Amino acid sequence: LNYCVPRTRKEIFETLVKGLQRLEYRGYDSAGIAVDGNKKTTAEDNSNIVLIKKKGKVKALDEELYKKDGMDLEAELDTHFGIAHTRWATHGEPSALNCHPHRSDKNNEFVVIHNGIITNYKELKKYLNSKGYEFESETDTEVIPKLIKYVYDNRERDDLSFSTLVERVIQQLEGAFALVFKSHHFPGEAVATRRGSPLLIGVRSKYELSAEHIPIQYNSDLFKEGVQEKNSHNRPDNSTAVNSAGDGKAVEYYFASDASAIIEHTNKVIYLEDDDIVAVVGGKLSLHRLNSLAGEDSVRAIQTLQMELQEIMKGNFEAFMQKEIFEQPESVFNTMRGRICFDTNKVILGGLKDHLKEIKRCRRLIVIGCGTSFHAAVATRQILEELTELPVMVELASDFLDRNTPVFRDDVCFYISQSGETADTLMALRYCKDRGALTVGVTNTVGSSISRDTDCGVHINAGPEIGVASTKAYTSQFVALIMFGLMMSEDRISLQPRRLEIINGLRILPDMIKKVLTLDKKIKSIADELYQQKSLLVMGRGFNYATCLEGALKIKEITYMHSEGILAGELKHGPLALIDKHMPVIMIIMRDACYTKCQNALQQVTARSGRPIILCCQDDPEVSKNAYKTIELPHTVDCLQGILSVIPLQLLSFHLAVLRGYDVDCPRNLAKSVTVE
Ligand code: G6P
Repeated sequence: LNYCVPRTRKEIFETLVKGLQRLEYRGYDSAGIAVDGNKKTTAEDNSNIVLIKKKGKVKALDEELYKKDGMDLEAELDTHFGIAHTRWATHGEPSALNCHPHRSDKNNEFVVIHNGIITNYKELKKYLNSKGYEFESETDTEVIPKLIKYVYDNRERDDLSFSTLVERVIQQLEGAFALVFKSHHFPGEAVATRRGSPLLIGVRSKYELSAEHIPIQYNSDLFKEGVQEKNSHNRPDNSTAVNSAGDGKAVEYYFASDASAIIEHTNKVIYLEDDDIVAVVGGKLSLHRLNSLAGEDSVRAIQTLQMELQEIMKGNFEAFMQKEIFEQPESVFNTMRGRICFDTNKVILGGLKDHLKEIKRCRRLIVIGCGTSFHAAVATRQILEELTELPVMVELASDFLDRNTPVFRDDVCFYISQSGETADTLMALRYCKDRGALTVGVTNTVGSSISRDTDCGVHINAGPEIGVASTKAYTSQFVALIMFGLMMSEDRISLQPRRLEIINGLRILPDMIKKVLTLDKKIKSIADELYQQKSLLVMGRGFNYATCLEGALKIKEITYMHSEGILAGELKHGPLALIDKHMPVIMIIMRDACYTKCQNALQQVTARSGRPIILCCQDDPEVSKNAYKTIELPHTVDCLQGILSVIPLQLLSFHLAVLRGYDVDCPRNLAKSVTVE
């Protein structure tokens, strides 16, 4: 929303579409936009919000925008508020009708975009139906615009503010949501709120921002002109908190689920908390809370993001995923930067050091995540057990919750999440918090829900990851968890040789990764042979078992081939039945404690005419002679080998997907950040 920063409608479209494209990795089955129409926005004008929606990717919507009749694209607008959304279907198939913004009625009196899920939508829909409100989509979201219209139609006073209406609506909602509302009854005003789903506000002003904090007001009706000063809770300068310069004008606000959508406009952001309600009225932003509790923060900080635009651009690569695979020498270095002192062999994770004593006293570590983040937990479990001498449980967040796992005050629970927003992981976090456990976040997203809701944590600093299939976040999570193990074992004399070996391995890890990346051509040639296959098995054990799971996940996600990560120890208990000369098998056989056992598995495969492609260490004739093909990797410390062994599988899945003609960054049916349960 801009205030006294003249923009043409074309510029507004471009800003919204570009923002959606940056968020497309979160979902891309349909997209929509709502903007002010040509006519001057007045409460009497019944058709001044234009809604354009389209099935497919954002590009399809972009093309649609310019087909719309009667839109004056060059018209300059002083104040303008547009909203846009890209959807990942949870309720109702991908279609123009089901996509957002959703509207209250045919006149578009209220329009809403929503990220999240409304769990009590059936009850609300039934009630609203009984009151004569008609629904046009199959979504849970549509109850929201209908409900706000119902509240508006039945208001007891004419002068209720827009944010008061929104407050009344969210009192009735259950589930998770980030919402932005637009209404022709409140021209030039925006209201946004969240519970459980992320939402941030970017602030851009041609003047220096006059405040570092936004004070929280305690009563939404204070947003009305002239009442603000009367509130004793307010700071004296609250009405001009963001933009006192320029008489409350010449400022633009950007509401978004994630910073990548707005970083090219501003790096000043306010992260909203659950039940914050934000309104922009007359170019001034104010914030209040639903049901505020004593002792809560009374301000929200305006933070400066460190993210660079270039970090979210593809550069010369074909796909973000490919760029992110090739970034791994730098991203793992950034995870370690400033945290490992190679002279003294000290590892300091600043976000954990104040809790180290408590962690050392705990009864067990529980490491929780979903998808790739769960695999990072599997990959490091063994070394964490070794270095911390604690029992370590690794848990898929959804299963952990399904089981109502017993959790105690002296447990320490880790939440691994690239986005820091995965709903299942967040719910597991709340579950453990309620039971008094110490909670530790390991995320890539500063300001994310998990990094804010945990007691302490580590940012993996891998840089923004855009490709839906996670790559560099995995290797950085891996390194971060190993650093935690090293920090825990610093005073264990018996563990010092082991620590030293690992620290030396970490020091040369970026160079080792560079060497693995030079195998790209060879891996492409293997992909050329495999891309028409239906299935691909990946087998290994010990420190490399997680690589099998993660490699198979990458293949499934972006190539749509069936792929299974198999623990080689389980081969004879079932998977061996799959092996014949036609079934492609990748085996990981490294020189570690499982080497001999892996060779046994290899014998079992070749005895059934299997033709394994083997990931092994350089110069291993024993293994090579039984291989159909080999991919030779530099040898490193056993517990770090998984960082190297996963990279060929990342590359293989990438090449397979390209050869099969699929969109690598936007695999069908998936979203990068799953903010619904
Ligand atoms: C989704 C993504 C996966 C990701 C998982 C966990 O399923 O498609 O790539 O691994 O969520 O995401 P997180 O952000 O919590 O690491």
